[in-house]
Amino acid sequence: MNLMFLCTGLLFGWSHGVFGKAPADKGPKGKFSVPVLDVKDGQLILPANHTLRLNCRGRGELAWLLPEGAQGRVRLEASRCGRTGQHHCSRLTLSPALLQDTGAYRCRYRNRTRRHSTIYVYVTDSRQPFVKGLGGPDVLFMTVGRPLLIPCRVTHPNVTVSLAKYGEKKQVRPDQTNILWNSRRGFTIRRPNYYYIGLFYCQALVEGVAHLSYRYFIYRPVSNIKEAYLNTSGPVKALKGERFVLNCTAIGELNTRVNITWEYPGMNNSSSSIRKRIVKYQDYVLFYSLLTLPRLKRSDRGRYTCRVSSGTKAKRPTVSLMVYDRPFIRLKARNGSVLQANVGQKSYRLTPKLRAFPPPQFIWLKDGMVAAERCSRYRVNQSSLVIRDVAEEDAGEYTLLVGNQEHGLFRNLTLTLVVNVRPQIAEKAVTSLDPAPVPRGSRQALHCTSKGVPSPHVQWQWHPCPADGLPSARRA
Ligand SMILES: *[C@@H]1O[C@H](CO)[C@@H](O)[C@H](O)[C@H]1NC(C)=O
Ligand SMILES: *[C@@H]1O[C@H](CO)[C@@H](O)[C@H](O)[C@H]1NC(C)=O
Ligand SMILES: *[C@@H]1O[C@H](CO)[C@@H](O)[C@H](O)[C@H]1NC(C)=O
Ligand SMILES: *[C@@H]1O[C@H](CO)[C@@H](O)[C@H](O)[C@H]1NC(C)=O
Ligand SMILES: *[C@@H]1O[C@H](CO)[C@@H](O)[C@H](O)[C@H]1NC(C)=O
Ligand SMILES: *[C@@H]1O[C@H](CO)[C@@H](O)[C@H](O)[C@H]1NC(C)=O
Ligand SMILES: *[C@@H]1O[C@H](CO)[C@@H](O)[C@H](O)[C@H]1NC(C)=O
Ligand SMILES: *[C@@H]1O[C@H](CO)[C@@H](O)[C@H](O)[C@H]1NC(C)=O
Ligand SMILES: *[C@@H]1O[C@H](CO)[C@@H](O)[C@H](O)[C@H]1NC(C)=O
Ligand SMILES: *[C@@H]1O[C@H](CO)[C@@H](O)[C@H](O)[C@H]1NC(C)=O
Ligand SMILES: *[C@@H]1O[C@H](CO)[C@@H](O)[C@H](O)[C@H]1NC(C)=O
Repeated sequence: MNLMFLCTGLLFGWSHGVFGKAPADKGPKGKFSVPVLDVKDGQLILPANHTLRLNCRGRGELAWLLPEGAQGRVRLEASRCGRTGQHHCSRLTLSPALLQDTGAYRCRYRNRTRRHSTIYVYVTDSRQPFVKGLGGPDVLFMTVGRPLLIPCRVTHPNVTVSLAKYGEKKQVRPDQTNILWNSRRGFTIRRPNYYYIGLFYCQALVEGVAHLSYRYFIYRPVSNIKEAYLNTSGPVKALKGERFVLNCTAIGELNTRVNITWEYPGMNNSSSSIRKRIVKYQDYVLFYSLLTLPRLKRSDRGRYTCRVSSGTKAKRPTVSLMVYDRPFIRLKARNGSVLQANVGQKSYRLTPKLRAFPPPQFIWLKDGMVAAERCSRYRVNQSSLVIRDVAEEDAGEYTLLVGNQEHGLFRNLTLTLVVNVRPQIAEKAVTSLDPAPVPRGSRQALHCTSKGVPSPHVQWQWHPCPADGLPSARRA
């Protein structure tokens, strides 16, 4: 590889007369529709430590766009030029020119940003063919199938460069189809596959000596959110003035980059704060975001959505928040205060209508005594009382006491339970159905003793005996 600088003659041979006959860009507006640079063939090769001088000329005020490395170190001098001073000239001086000054230098009109004249300057050092030498690594993101640029730019256009993966002998060389080399950009892999994930570097051989570029860590961000959830599923209730905190958690595969944002009623206008954290585990990454509203207002009620996105995928766990002005207990009977159950019923549930916030405590009383202690068949579940195997003795008065000690709120409700008992005739159990004959004309008293809840209504019926004198019941 010959890195001798054949260009030096060209570099120092610029004549000051170039401008007079500059083949100005003849656009629709004629000469100087774009400012003109004094280097014609679009590139310049300059040894490191020499001075870079560029001149630009146009018919309006001029401005430059410079490589990042050169910004802040160039000296610019503006002047009027041309035979009658009708033109604007700008002289750029950079001394000494360093490797990192390698790049495109553009001159344009100050008030026309779209078009410019460009020259690419290589600041050359045969001992360092890469613009960025050993160091890094830089992280590059790749997507399978999308072009991947490995920006190992060089300081001379004729350097031959190959690409290599750390730990592998095989080198990747330009093939003009999938792997393209450009001394001003680096390697472009048109359709990268999984081979291009890992640590890479470029290598140049100059006069038999191998030079290595910056290292590039090529990384494939995946967008796989395994899960996203809030630390509450149901609707949340809170009191005005309270502090409200929601924790939104997302779990992603390794290499997933996740973006968590919040949408909520006060998002444009509140003293809320958001705190984010990422915790890496061996085979997954946990991201969480904490939304804190220090003092709830009535206007904070509504839907809180945590938007978790990664690439094109997104999940949006949502929860609704109800804000109450003050604590309350609202208690009433569901269907009148007198209830009915039947003896033998497997279970009967007393469930008054209750709305309360914050959640209160409950006590059920039966005829003035704590119900659960009175009978093992009574079971209290929140604001309900469940009676198993309903018996006659379960009839009575049931009182539900609801209280919120902290806020000094108490309510009670008394319900009356009536237990229905099927009517029964006591005599049926003891008297034979076959009455003995009695003398005609004698006086007989027939007794019927009944019981039941509610009190049964008794009705007598008389059936004449059939002709054969036998009671009809016997035939049945
Ligand atoms: C440029 O100058 C620096 C400092 O004087 C020196 O270390 C370096 O070798 C020079 N580079 C070249 C290519 O001459
Ligand atoms: C740019 O500004 C100059 C005056 O500074 C003006 O004469 C010229 O028309 C402007 N060009 C455009 C494209 O606005
Ligand atoms: C680069 O290589 C080409 C072809 O091998 C040669 O014509 C040209 O002069 C070289 N340029 C420089 C600056 O060495
Ligand atoms: C959610 O988590 C935060 C932080 O741990 C906690 O302060 C808050 O009370 C939780 N919210 C709910 C509704 O559980
Ligand atoms: C938020 O939830 C995650 C798990 O879902 C937990 O690891 C983290 O500690 C929680 N943050 C706070 C501040 O409670
Ligand atoms: C995160 O998402 C928000 C809202 O969708 C968006 O404005 C922002 O640009 C995203 N940030 C990143 C780094 O993707
Ligand atoms: C917040 O502001 C944005 C843009 O101004 C608007 O689209 C959005 O609806 C607002 N959100 C709320 C909850 O007011
Ligand atoms: C913004 O905050 C002010 C003062 O807290 C409140 O009056 C106003 O209603 C809020 N606006 C919205 C859109 O939340
Ligand atoms: C309400 O009570 C009436 C009469 O007491 C009864 O007919 C009705 O079935 C009850 N409704 C419910 C939902 O218990
Ligand atoms: C309490 O009642 C609810 C339904 O109202 C039921 O889901 C729950 O299992 C009951 N709990 C007990 C301990 O019986
Ligand atoms: C139930 O509430 C009434 C007033 O609503 C009150 O007079 C009564 O003492 C309360 N009973 C109990 C057992 O708390």
